[in-house]
Amino acid sequence: MASFAKLCCGKSTSNRKDKGKKTVRWRIFSLKELHSATNNFNYDNKLGEGGFGSVYWGQLWDGSQVHIQCLLQIAVKRLKVWSTKADMEFSVEVEILGRVRHKNLLSLRGYCAEGQERLIVYDYMPNLSLLSHLHGQHSAEYLLDWERRMNIIIGSAEGIAYLHHHAVPHIIHRDIKASNVLLDSEFNAKVADFGFAKLIPDGATHVTTRVKGTLGYLAPEYAMLGKASESCDVYSFGILLLELASGKKPIEKLNPTTKRTIIDWALPLVRQRKFDEVADPKLNGNYVEEELKRVAIVALVCTQNQPEKRPNMLEVVDLLKGESKEKLSDLQNEQIFKEEPLAGFQDGLSSVDDKSDLISEEQDSKEEVKDVAHSA
Ligand SMILES: Nc1ncnc2c1ncn2[C@@H]1O[C@H](COP(=O)(O)OP(=O)(O)O)[C@@H](O)[C@H]1O
Ligand SMILES: [Mg+2]
Repeated sequence: MASFAKLCCGKSTSNRKDKGKKTVRWRIFSLKELHSATNNFNYDNKLGEGGFGSVYWGQLWDGSQVHIQCLLQIAVKRLKVWSTKADMEFSVEVEILGRVRHKNLLSLRGYCAEGQERLIVYDYMPNLSLLSHLHGQHSAEYLLDWERRMNIIIGSAEGIAYLHHHAVPHIIHRDIKASNVLLDSEFNAKVADFGFAKLIPDGATHVTTRVKGTLGYLAPEYAMLGKASESCDVYSFGILLLELASGKKPIEKLNPTTKRTIIDWALPLVRQRKFDEVADPKLNGNYVEEELKRVAIVALVCTQNQPEKRPNMLEVVDLLKGESKEKLSDLQNEQIFKEEPLAGFQDGLSSVDDKSDLISEEQDSKEEVKDVAHSA
């Protein structure tokens, strides 16, 4: 708990900031209270699972509004097994969520740290994660029409732009992906899961760190050199854009020995201006052509290998909203959209047993990559 005490001693984690203005409300929960809210962490209450632990639905009486008691739906993330590393992840998430507030970031309700138990309490998001709609239990229901997708795209871009450009100090998320974007009752995006997030000291361009994140979403300079900066999130967000536009997964297994990244699949189509082939077949042609084109181009600009060529998130927001039309047409003339197939680019196919890959899928069955590179 030492690490947590250290992180929480600053004024930034006060649970009532900005007196008179918007208040950031969170509180400490007792384990007993959370047991009773989740029906003893009943299996039937389970909403999802990630690297940290399981997440359960629950409800409790909320007394935070003076004189008003209301039944509040919550989501409780419970650490699987205690370790110093997991404790650090817990502390980082509580510390960071406690200091941010934005309509597109998941709100913290509080936490519980008793003995070796570590739990984080959030607002419940009734439409679960983007992953469940794109590739999971809700994918057959077709709830993500184009309008909702665009709302999620712009909302999550604004949430990340807030972290990069408005939070003090700046925050990089380091695990932007479909399972970490949650959806509220109106399908508004809430970026979640800050366990891997990092605060970037003022003036620093990047931090060198152990690599954490998820295969298929990792920027190359981060995966190989451990260089973490805002542009790593921009890269991951670009992958997420392609996923939302096409309904495809970041890495597709074509057969037992061949895989293809979503970039290798999309780039030739965009170069040939075949935007209709990029669109998710589930949309059945029901999308705004200009918006889809915009999303595909921005996605590929965000996922360029050289971080300095990627736009920042403020530029990404403007481009996606169609507020930088000139810049967008300039981008379409960029080299990546003209080049012939890249060196080593074999019709977008690569072999899964390519041993030169620093990060291999076999490292973790959940495709979570942790600590594969050491800090320099
Ligand atoms: N507030 C919430 N409301 C609804 N579902 C949630 C909520 N938080 C998490 N989940 C579900 O649990 C999964 C794992 O949560 P996450 O915070 O990403 O945990 P981990 O740190 O273990 O990856 C999410 O992908 C989502 O399906
Ligand atoms: Mg997660």
